[in-house]
Amino acid sequence: MCVCVCTGGSMASGQLSREEALACVGCRHACHILLYADTEAQLFEEIPIRHIILMQMRFDGLLGFPGGLVDPSEESLEEGLSRELWEELGFSLSVTVEDHVSSCHNPSSQLVTHFYARRMEEKEIREVEKAAASTATDHGHEVMGMVRVPLYTLKGGGGGLPSFLSHSFIGNSRSQLEDALVRFGLVTPEELQTALTHAEQRRK
Ligand code: GTP
Ligand code: MN
Ligand code: MN
Ligand code: MN
Ligand code: MN
Ligand code: MN
Repeated sequence: MCVCVCTGGSMASGQLSREEALACVGCRHACHILLYADTEAQLFEEIPIRHIILMQMRFDGLLGFPGGLVDPSEESLEEGLSRELWEELGFSLSVTVEDHVSSCHNPSSQLVTHFYARRMEEKEIREVEKAAASTATDHGHEVMGMVRVPLYTLKGGGGGLPSFLSHSFIGNSRSQLEDALVRFGLVTPEELQTALTHAEQRRK
């Protein structure tokens, strides 16, 4: 388990700047990205979907974001992330420092997880999904498939975001998702809190 929580930007929880992270001697680095778009689409012609957010089902059965390990002595963090996206999504996206959101150091594994986000058009996100399921070299190997994150909570309280959050996630990717949902205004803090409460009940 990753002991590094890194939510809400608290320095005490292992959060550090991109530069501080790169100065770490003996650290390994992993870069992952949240790709999202706005959408007017509705579920069952009545429930607004609001945003398309991409995650992936990994080879190990855990949910996570696209991306992977980067060796900063060989390539920049952003070059490495762009390479991983080509391997895992079959889509050419040139990630920049401007897309950087947060970096989190996990002392027990000496792994720094760098998190990025990029807002796209719905049309582009659909192209990413298409490529990930067809031409991506890692499809069916490292990546079992891309999934969208449901943001609504269905009547009765459990279906939608609460069920999604009750799955198992790699590393601190669940924290990255929760933080990003509020940070980018994809759900309100109250909606996230309600979903987390329902998710907690489902895991019992
Ligand atoms: P290989 O090419 O097989 O080495 O895999 P990869 O380079 O794609 O690496 P991977 O995406 O598995 O990420 C490397 C490590 O980062 C994992 O072992 C996890 O500990 C962690 N990790 C993976 N996905 C995520 C994620 O979405 N968020 C965070 N925070 N960590 C992740
Ligand atoms: Mn149906
Ligand atoms: Mn990979
Ligand atoms: Mn990966
Ligand atoms: Mn890799
Ligand atoms: Mn690989």
